[in-house]
Amino acid sequence: MSHRQRIVVANWKANLPPGEEVALAGDIATELARQHDVAAPMSVEVLLAPSHLALVAVTSHLRREHPTIGIGTVAQDVSAAEAGAHTGESPALHLLGIADGVIVGHSERRRERGETDRVVGAKLARVVAAGMRPILCLGDDVRDGGGAERAAVLELQWTAALVSAAEHGVDRDALVASGLVVAYEPVWAIGSGRPATPETASAAATIIRNAASADLPILYGGSVEAGGAAAYVASRGEGGGRIDGLLVGGASLRASKFVEIVTAVRTSVGAG
Ligand code: 13P
Repeated sequence: MSHRQRIVVANWKANLPPGEEVALAGDIATELARQHDVAAPMSVEVLLAPSHLALVAVTSHLRREHPTIGIGTVAQDVSAAEAGAHTGESPALHLLGIADGVIVGHSERRRERGETDRVVGAKLARVVAAGMRPILCLGDDVRDGGGAERAAVLELQWTAALVSAAEHGVDRDALVASGLVVAYEPVWAIGSGRPATPETASAAATIIRNAASADLPILYGGSVEAGGAAAYVASRGEGGGRIDGLLVGGASLRASKFVEIVTAVRTSVGAG
């Protein structure tokens, strides 16, 4: 069994007002502390992605009230612009010290906000230049298509983001060295109640690592529930594609459900 760190991220999207996000963070921390020996280092890194409005409050609450449990926070998005005259934007430089990382290129932003691979690449570059860790979301819309179709979409998304990041001053080596995490989030599985099989997720992980020529940490996201969570991180699948963790949407909005997922991942990798 690999001793790699596993990662479980809660993406709360725009589901809750800030006060409820702070309360949920507190409930998750309390429940995790109750179930796990927090004196020992956790083999699972737990990260919460609140809305921008709640990011400072959630991070402060965790640092003040739950300093030993080691739950981190990530931003759900970032500006493609540097700090300056950009009304309403949240530049990476301003997230530094508040969040531990940034989700970039979520499919909801690609689809609803028209975010192109070029914009995604620019955001990646800003995050890396600020010294932060990006979590890059890639995902196909090819539920029943063959692996070749899925591979073509993922390779294109990766390559196009890479080219754009390089144009914005951050090359592939700098991107990999930043601690880049990739989340495989098939569009058809998000919020659908029909998750990808662990085998499909593993095959996608292999496609992404081959495209990147790097052994990147890869998460799976899309309708993850506690019952199915362990199978992803346990699975090797076709081509040995390892899944290092999960990016959880709906099931992260209830503390007990989310902690069940963390526990399932922790148990399945067989360490503390
Ligand atoms: P669901 O778990 O609600 O399908 O959302 C997944 C997701 O988009 C996480 O970023």
